[in-house]
Amino acid sequence: MNTTARTGALADRFEATFGMEPHGVWAAPGRVNLIGEHTDYNEGFVLPFAIDNRARTAIRLRGGSLREDSRIRLLSTYGNQGLVEADTAALAPGAVKGWAKYPLGVVWALQQRGIDVPGFDLLLDSDVPLGAGLSSSHAIECAVVTALNELTGAGLTAEEMVELTHNAENAFVGAPTGIMDQSASLRGARGHAVFLDCRDQSVELVPFRAQDAGLVLLVIDTKVAHSHADGGYASRRASCELGAEVLDVKALRDVAVADLEEASGLLDPMTLRRVRHVVTENARVLQAVDTLRSQGPARIGHLLDASHASMRDDFEISCPELDLAVDAARSHGAIGARMTGGGFGGSAIALTPVGDEQQVRDAVVRAFAEAGFTAPDIFTVTPAAGAERLS
Ligand code: GLA
Repeated sequence: MNTTARTGALADRFEATFGMEPHGVWAAPGRVNLIGEHTDYNEGFVLPFAIDNRARTAIRLRGGSLREDSRIRLLSTYGNQGLVEADTAALAPGAVKGWAKYPLGVVWALQQRGIDVPGFDLLLDSDVPLGAGLSSSHAIECAVVTALNELTGAGLTAEEMVELTHNAENAFVGAPTGIMDQSASLRGARGHAVFLDCRDQSVELVPFRAQDAGLVLLVIDTKVAHSHADGGYASRRASCELGAEVLDVKALRDVAVADLEEASGLLDPMTLRRVRHVVTENARVLQAVDTLRSQGPARIGHLLDASHASMRDDFEISCPELDLAVDAARSHGAIGARMTGGGFGGSAIALTPVGDEQQVRDAVVRAFAEAGFTAPDIFTVTPAAGAERLS
């Protein structure tokens, strides 16, 4: 189904469910991260891009004054949770389960900013694969914040919506994540990667057109589900904070590769490995941006490889399925590959010459079958537009 048909179908389904037309339909994309992992909450650099898979939401404010109608009704086209009802006046962090915590987290975060949200009906649809490390949750939050920003007349800028969804995710949902995913979703642009400085939210759009260099970017969804609300993500973040404290810097962003030798005398071995990943990863992002600009995507392969090795060996957030996907892709033609996203499962990316695409796909599928792993999903991505109103 194309975008127009899908948007129309969502609006029709909204009307069939809630008995009125929606006030509009908004969409926000998932993302892949080209490079720059676990650098965002260290005030460093990231280079993600928005993908074509998106969450779409149809919404209608039910009208009436806040006091009269504070009811929220939420339905998604996937899962089996059925209709979820909530009250705008009774939203509490940690209390909501399932997908509804993402839209309700946005409402709560709007309220925290002093923005009144009246009762509304919401229907959600998404083709961002869940738990695949492609930011399905941020896609929902970004679609909802874009819609409610417009419908309530809040007038928030993209940077403010990034802060707001970050607050929703950290304080309401309980996942201690950084600002990369929502920045890609809200600020992405077709044909470009989003080079984001997470210290001040400044963005430069960097052209990324793999096809012009005879390449495709493959996503290999390992089907190993992960969650950033689990302990692994939080413990890596804690190690980074400890490292910054011992090294007496505001954030690991302030440590240079040349400082690592001195740091090795100050940090325990595990903290040193965590710090080394972040510090070298920041340097790789800067190099990747320079290389993309001066020589194009065909020259960034070694940086993707080095990033994966650093996450596997120093940050220790890979898993056998991700390592196998990367190794099989690399040994059958990919010019660079790495896990993407928070780790412990999810997806890998493999930059692959067009002529080798089938061979790489076959090799990965074969390797997974031989290892007894669940069959992976493999597809290509190109940089797509950020969040927008569809109708
Ligand atoms: C998840 C988080 C991001 C970022 C990545 C790792 O996607 O949501 O903020 O920390 O992991 O780079």
